[in-house]
Amino acid sequence: MVKIVFEDIAGTRREVEVPPGGSVMQAAVSHAIPGIEAACGGSLVCGTCHAYVPEPWFSRLPEAAEIELDMVENGLFVRQESRMMCQITVTEALDGMLVKTPESQR
Ligand code: FES
Repeated sequence: MVKIVFEDIAGTRREVEVPPGGSVMQAAVSHAIPGIEAACGGSLVCGTCHAYVPEPWFSRLPEAAEIELDMVENGLFVRQESRMMCQITVTEALDGMLVKTPESQR
């Protein structure tokens, strides 16, 4: 199992344990993590799975595809460590990763 730690805008942390292979978005939605809406179910068309992955985790992620970068750049509350959680696959290498949810998805 892989632990992912979600932190909301107020600093409240919620830890989830999920098997590798799914997306970070699926890990969030299956555990009802606030702040990850994922309205499109992972099709990369809604932008509501946006979250921040602080270092050192951000540098350990596979590079974002151009289509993901386009979606990130057009989002709200974008920061340098912004990613779309439906595009990040949970792997053992991400065990303990911190994901910060944004102020709002809309
Ligand atoms: S779930 Fe819609 S873009 Fe990620």
